Amino acid sequence: MPHTLSEITGPVYGHSEISEADSDLTRQHSGEPLGERIIVSGSVLDDSGRPVPHTLIEIWQANAAGRYLHIKDNHLAPLDPNFTGAGRALTDANGFYKFVTVKPGAYPWKNHANAWRPAHIHFSLLGPAFASRLITQMYFPGDPLFALDPIFQSVADEKARERMIARFDIETTQPEWALGYEFNIVLRGRETTPFET
Ligand SMILES: [Fe+2]
Repeated sequence: MPHTLSEITGPVYGHSEISEADSDLTRQHSGEPLGERIIVSGSVLDDSGRPVPHTLIEIWQANAAGRYLHIKDNHLAPLDPNFTGAGRALTDANGFYKFVTVKPGAYPWKNHANAWRPAHIHFSLLGPAFASRLITQMYFPGDPLFALDPIFQSVADEKARERMIARFDIETTQPEWALGYEFNIVLRGRETTPFET
């Protein structure tokens, strides 16, 4: 299956240290991006359920209108001058990570007639070496496009597909400010999160 733009591209970072602003995609410009502000947090776990500390997570995503800030994205949706759509964070000593961003929009990808990707955030996790990089996509609960999306459906096992869907989390939802989603990532084992090869 031909991959879309967002499967084959990702942000390229420099050599600078990771800063607080790297994990808050709503504070990387002079103004705030448009869209539904969300908090995405969770844990990175190994096959025994043990937390994986100090792991670099990189994310990239479309803006709220479903447009990537990428020269080859020609979707007729507006760019947001206050949104780059890329962030990174390290898990803490307990394997916990947190991003603040806006909910990405669905976007068309021409794979078949009237093809739209469900809203998703790309996740890359780096182990101690580049060869141990794992890449997956996080989806949002209840998306009507799941049944029609060949990439989501390429994971044959329904239970495994569900592990790519974040859980709405009222506990991390902040009043008057942002909706919370929990997305735990299991690196391997029976409960592993599906990864792209
Ligand atoms: Fe994408």
